Amino acid sequence: MSETVGRLHWAVKESFIAYIRGLDDGDIETFDGCELQDGVFVFPGESGEDGELLFSGGVHFTGFAGMLDVRLVDPMVEFDGTEAKVTALVGPAAIAARVHIATIEGGEPYRPGNSWTAAPKLTFEGVRILGDVYQVGAELAPLSIEPETQ
Ligand code: HEM
Repeated sequence: MSETVGRLHWAVKESFIAYIRGLDDGDIETFDGCELQDGVFVFPGESGEDGELLFSGGVHFTGFAGMLDVRLVDPMVEFDGTEAKVTALVGPAAIAARVHIATIEGGEPYRPGNSWTAAPKLTFEGVRILGDVYQVGAELAPLSIEPETQ
């Protein structure tokens, strides 16, 4: 069943953002509807069907003269029982592929139309995308889905 999807609020990982901001040439750019609000990326809801909530827009982190180049685009939260996966398109726009970057285990069940907050943890693929620095299971920033009216 299709449903109205709220907006995804997610700061990805605060220490990563602080690291980028601390680089001489570090830059964080949002696009296609994603906005940075008080240090949190806000992605508009795109569609929701069969436990798959798709959001739109992206964020592009750059630094070290282009050697650091991380794009997270069109994030999706996919529910499967008490677990949820956070995926996003990663890589250069022309060949971006959807990758499972974080997992959410337990927590409150998601109810469409209500606020929902979760604690995502980094997957192996997520570790790779963020430069092989963190451990699998590292805690990421809290992620929430907020109804459109908020
Ligand atoms: C020229 C290449 C690079 C150099 C010289 C470099 C250097 C560093 C240094 C010195 C730190 C420690 C910073 C601190 O603790 O304050 C660090 C942390 C980190 N780097 Fe890099 N880095 C490079 C490329 C990359 C790339 C390509 C990525 C991601 C794709 C990346 C992701 C990270 C992350 C996620 C951290 C941990 C930030 C945190 O949460 O504290 N780095 N890097």
